[in-house]
Amino acid sequence: MALYSKKVIEHFKHPRNVGEIADADAAAMEGSPACGDMLKITLKIDEKTHVITDIKFESFGCASNIATASIITEMAKGRTIEEAERIGWKQAADELDGLPPVKMHCAVLAVDALKSAIEQWKERHGLVEKEPTTPDKVLRKLRNVLNPLTGVSIVRMQLLLDFDVADGIVTIDLDLTPEHKFASHISEEIHEKLDHLWDVKEVKINFVGKPEV
Ligand code: FES
Repeated sequence: MALYSKKVIEHFKHPRNVGEIADADAAAMEGSPACGDMLKITLKIDEKTHVITDIKFESFGCASNIATASIITEMAKGRTIEEAERIGWKQAADELDGLPPVKMHCAVLAVDALKSAIEQWKERHGLVEKEPTTPDKVLRKLRNVLNPLTGVSIVRMQLLLDFDVADGIVTIDLDLTPEHKFASHISEEIHEKLDHLWDVKEVKINFVGKPEV
């Protein structure tokens, strides 16, 4: 089977909506801890209807990232921000007829950049209440942390043994040893997703997996 679908190759070779909107209403630059790549999204949003009237991206990432960013700009353009923020990375990958598992994090990067741009716009327009970090919210964030090799969420892979949120401290127990080859990568991804939350003071990750014998 070919590594990349025809659609991925098509969007990589002819990406839609590339560039930067000069007088953008919202912008976000996101980086992927998995590979160090970056993606910038700029948006024009109609204040009354909340419709995304224009969207552009600049990717400093791989072919999968370019293809995913391209497809999400098509999926988001003409939709309201409320609809666009429901676009998930799996949906974006499906829209491209799939991505190789090791490239799923590139779709996460694209979708995260879109979501942060929208979130910033909503914050500036007083549309977001400071939502407290609940266990549900933490779980939602952890579902977007992937095993870099399989492209499957650490939650689905049952690597998340337990977690707790108390007094601004998030404690996470993972079924990995500290020496595991992906331990530092997964830990960086978790910090990326949780450290910036306004009421989170500390994220403690415990590697409690048993060493393989
Ligand atoms: Fe970095 Fe795809 S975005 S490898």
